[in-house]
Amino acid sequence: MMKSGRANFGSKLGVILASAGSAVGLGNIWRFPYETGNYGGAAFILIYLGCVLLLGLPIMLAEFIIGRRSRANTAGAYQVLAPGTHWRWVGRMGVLAGFMILSFYSVVAGWTLEYVFEALGNGFAGKTPEEYIQSFQAFSGNPWKPIIWLVLFLLGTHFIIVRGVEKGIEKSSKIMMPMLFVLILVLVGCSVSLPGAKSGIEFLLKPDFSKVDGNVFLGAMGQAFFSLSLGMGCLCTYASYFSKDTNLTRTAFSVGLIDTFIAILAGFIIFPAAFSVGIQPDAGPSLIFITLPNVFQQAFSGAPWLAYIFSVLFYVLLALAALTSTISMHEVVTAYLHEEFKISRKRAAWFVTGGCIFFGVLCSLSLGVTKGFTVFGMGMFDLFDFVTAKIILPLGGMLISIFVGWYLDKKLVWEEITNDGTLKVRLYKVILFILKYIAPIAIGIVFINELKIL
Ligand code: PHE
Repeated sequence: MMKSGRANFGSKLGVILASAGSAVGLGNIWRFPYETGNYGGAAFILIYLGCVLLLGLPIMLAEFIIGRRSRANTAGAYQVLAPGTHWRWVGRMGVLAGFMILSFYSVVAGWTLEYVFEALGNGFAGKTPEEYIQSFQAFSGNPWKPIIWLVLFLLGTHFIIVRGVEKGIEKSSKIMMPMLFVLILVLVGCSVSLPGAKSGIEFLLKPDFSKVDGNVFLGAMGQAFFSLSLGMGCLCTYASYFSKDTNLTRTAFSVGLIDTFIAILAGFIIFPAAFSVGIQPDAGPSLIFITLPNVFQQAFSGAPWLAYIFSVLFYVLLALAALTSTISMHEVVTAYLHEEFKISRKRAAWFVTGGCIFFGVLCSLSLGVTKGFTVFGMGMFDLFDFVTAKIILPLGGMLISIFVGWYLDKKLVWEEITNDGTLKVRLYKVILFILKYIAPIAIGIVFINELKIL
């Protein structure tokens, strides 16, 4: 079934790192902590973990099956596996989500670049927690600066996409993922040893179920899909580049584990530090940008050169983690335009980059200059985030699980999961049961409950 001329990932490690590179990004380090803060801490984390295990991993496997079997972009995949049906709309919806996420995500990715330069110029040294808040507000409300960074970030993504799959995506993931991981561990150590860090640790470990409502469930589910890059065909597109002997189940477990571990560790960097310096845990999207500089300055107050090195390194790695995620979103939309509309890859990539710059600029302005303009009470940035993470991704996940659980021929599913019978997958029946019943019903209940559909 392999289409000739279609790229492949070069090695097993490359497969895992590229998928993990897509999954690990601002979703873990920026979005997870602020959602945890918004929804009250430990109870949210427990529900989040449940969502990853029960919905995330099986649906990731389902995406892998669809992608590797069809060897096509996410919309084309449904044409191959379910020709002439409406299933292709699931793929198209994913492409739309990819485009929307890339637009608002690049705004925050751009912020990380500003912080790289701020760190390089030693701009964090000697400031008080209040000053970090003020300088973030001044920066994000500035009409020009965030837009310049956003455009640069999208152009960086663009050039990697144009260079092709293996060279660009695989190489960059291989180097930066392990580095990021080590640095995060160091920062956790620093953060938990700050004075007053204990209340932050409690916030993460002591669940308070009295605050849990349907909202928290929708938030946790949306965050799980967002963080695992699920529900929009991203991992499906990557799986179309997997080789015949990639162990799909094991890859899904590895990616899920790495992603979740990094998110939890990010929590252990942010909250002990936030409580230590008196920053509110529900500060929202600005949370890591106003908390982290404190970690560097306070933890290394005796050795300013260490504070300098660690802050530069951290923001560089954060920007790179964001980059491996933006590449994966860009790839979904580019592969779709290139393969479905038969335009060159380069041209397709320019359409995506141009479109995302346009909407990205609007998202960025909605946090400052055009704050007053709202739709359903939300500015463009919040609206794009809400519609994708809390509606399109879970809905996509639900339809993907129904597609693999009910529509696809079970022989085909078995062949993909076991690599034509060469692998023994003990959880096969459990996975199928989850895809058939648990995932669609659970997502359905959360939707009905929260979005008041009925
Ligand atoms: N999972 C990525 C992150 O955590 C974001 C993402 C979402 C990437 C959807 C691709 C698709 O940063």
